[in-house]
This record gives sequence, structure tokens and C-alpha cells, in this order.
Amino acid sequence: MKQSTNHLFIDACFCKPVKRTPVWMMRQAGRYLPAYRAVRKKYDFITMYKTPEVATEVTLQPVDIVGVDAAIIFSDILVIPEAMGMHLEFVEGTGPRFPNPLKSERDVQALRAIEAREDLFFVMETLRLSRRELANRVPLIGFSGAPWTLATYMVEGGGSKTFKAIKTLRFARPDLLHQLLTKVTDAVIDYCTAQMDAGAQAIQLFDSWAGILEERGFEEFVLPYVKRIIEAIRRSGVPIIYFAKGGMLWMEKLVETRADVIGLDWTIAPDKARALVNGRAALQGNLDPTALYAPPDVIRRLVREMLEQFGSDVGYIANLGHGILPDIPVEHARTFVDVVKEVGRATL
Ligand code: CP3
Repeated sequence: MKQSTNHLFIDACFCKPVKRTPVWMMRQAGRYLPAYRAVRKKYDFITMYKTPEVATEVTLQPVDIVGVDAAIIFSDILVIPEAMGMHLEFVEGTGPRFPNPLKSERDVQALRAIEAREDLFFVMETLRLSRRELANRVPLIGFSGAPWTLATYMVEGGGSKTFKAIKTLRFARPDLLHQLLTKVTDAVIDYCTAQMDAGAQAIQLFDSWAGILEERGFEEFVLPYVKRIIEAIRRSGVPIIYFAKGGMLWMEKLVETRADVIGLDWTIAPDKARALVNGRAALQGNLDPTALYAPPDVIRRLVREMLEQFGSDVGYIANLGHGILPDIPVEHARTFVDVVKEVGRATL
């Protein structure tokens, strides 16, 4: 039997047997928690993640309030472009945006290489403080945006309906897009390495906009960069999770990244994902986050069905198929977690 740690989550990431299925939720440190909203009343979002004591408090909230089996540090994927020199603003009611998105070759060339340990010192401090506060109760996940998703924000300036700017770059100036992705990849590698040094026990790469690409685009602008990152940051005992939202059609290519865990969005049926991946990586996901609007008895049934479909193989972490939404009642989030804890199968 493989050597196990005292953490269900880490063991499941490495496809080791566990006493029961571990569970956490993407975006678990956030607005659906009244405790988060109380802190958020006092500070704006950017101040929150730049203040390690505040970020640590919010990181621990879902562990204490909802009972998840892993914490994820409170921060944002946009700290990398900010450290590379882009001015970031937070617009209340809309979200973070770059008022001066990248528009020219000069803009791309002006981006700085980062020194994550110094430039993103506040993230490293949050990791160290959170590790101390957690005292090994549950493991702590660090994270980064993946290069394509970061580049999309940097070129669009924010969210978008048509992704006109990044897609124009993709089709009209693929060479320039590669330059940008190379710079961002270097930054992500430095950032993830520094997070591991500061105590991150797992790393999740969020590729929230992978699904806006066609298959060839995914092969050219996503895959090589994610592979490079995973190869560069891999170290023993620290699992890497790759979540490519909208990329479920490309399961074979997701396996090729050699991530320890493949994050699933809700568009793929669990049994199908299992069959396609066939034990080559652990799986994480994938209840549709809007399912948590349904009443608790419905949630209970849906979670049971999900667990049933993921089966009793080793290598499964229960999660949502994307981030929890801000207006989900805490009771519903707790039901999601409780049901996994009640019926999540032992694989020992
Ligand atoms: O998972 C966690 O709880 C840890 C914290 C976390 C946040 N953002 C906090 C946050 C993580 C892992 C992220 C990642 C992130 N940030 C992603 C990738 C994951 C995903 O959901 O696709 C993306 C695309 C971003 C960029 C971002 N940050 C957007 C588009 C927004 C606005 C939309 C929104 O949800 O409000 C944010 C803001 C943000 N990031 C909030 C939180 C708690 C809300 C801030 C607030 O108003 O209090």
C-alpha cells in the first residue's frame, strides 16, 4: 500500500486509499458567508488580499463554518499581472478590471519579470500565517491563474462576452500572444514555487477561460504552457490540480499535462470522465454550482448521485464544477459538504 499522509485531501490527490471522500469548494472563501461579508464591509477586496491577517481570517472561515477538508488561500489570480506592472482596480458590483489592458507589442514588452517572494510577499505571508493558524487541521491549497486565462484578462481588461481583443490577438498576431504567454508562464512558475516554499501543500491552476478556444487553439496556446509549468514546479508530496473550465472535450490532452488531479466542470458525466482518465490522474468536481440553489433535500439527492457515479475508485475529491455563487445560502453549502462526509465511500 502506498504511504499515506494524515490528510484525506492530499492522499486522494495522489490516488492513495482514504477513509472517506474529501470535499472542498472552489471560491469557498467568499461572499456566500455572512462572516466574509462582515470583514468585507471594513475593507475593499484588494486591501483584503494584500493584508495577510485579514486574508488569513477569511481563508479559515470555510474550514470553521462549513467544515471543508482543505483550505485555499484568499487571494486572486490577478495578482500576477498586477506584479508585472498592470494597474488593477476593483469596481464594486462588477469585479476586478485593468483600466489599461495590453494593446500593443510595446505593452507586452513593458511587462516586468516578477520576483514572487518580494513582489507578492503578502501572498507568502498569508500562506505562512494560514499554515500556522490551521495547525495541520486541514491542508492549505495555493493557486495561480493559468497563462491563457491570465493573458485573457490582461488583454480584455476584464470579463467579456465575445472576447474580441484576445481572439483578435490569437488569430492576427499569434506570435505576440506566444510572447505574452511565455512571460506569464515564467511568472506563474516563480509564483507557484514561492508558494510551495511558503507552505502551500497543493497548487491549483485555474484556467477559467480555456473553454473559449477551439481545439487547435487549446493545443497551441494552452497545453504547452501548462505542461511547462507542471514540469517545472513538480515536487514530491505537493499535488498539482489543473482546472480547465470548458475543456472537458479535451480530456486526453488534460491527462497529457501530467497534473496529479484533473478538475472537472459540470458538463461531463462523472462515469464518462472516469472511463476516459482511467486512473491516470485523480478527479475533482463536479456538481453544477447552481444546483446549490435547490432545497437541501434535492441537494442531498444530487450529491449522493454524484458520489455514486464517481464510484469507489481511489483518487476522487468532491467539489463543485466551478466556484460557489455569492447568493447561495450557507445551509445549502453545508448540506453539500455534510452529505459527502456522510456517504463518501472509503477506498481503504
Ligand atoms: O477559492 C477561494 O475561495 C479562494 C479565493 C479566490 C478568489 N478568486 C476570491 C475572490 C480564488 C481561487 C479566485 C480565483 C479567481 N479570480 C478566478 C479563477 C476561478 C474562477 O472562479 O473562475 C478568476 C477568474 C478570478 C478573477 C475574479 N476575481 C473575478 C472575475 C472576480 C469578480 C467576479 C466575482 O466573483 O465577484 C473576482 C473577485 C473575487 N475573487 C471575489 C472573491 C471572494 C469577490 C470579491 C468581493 O466582492 O468581495
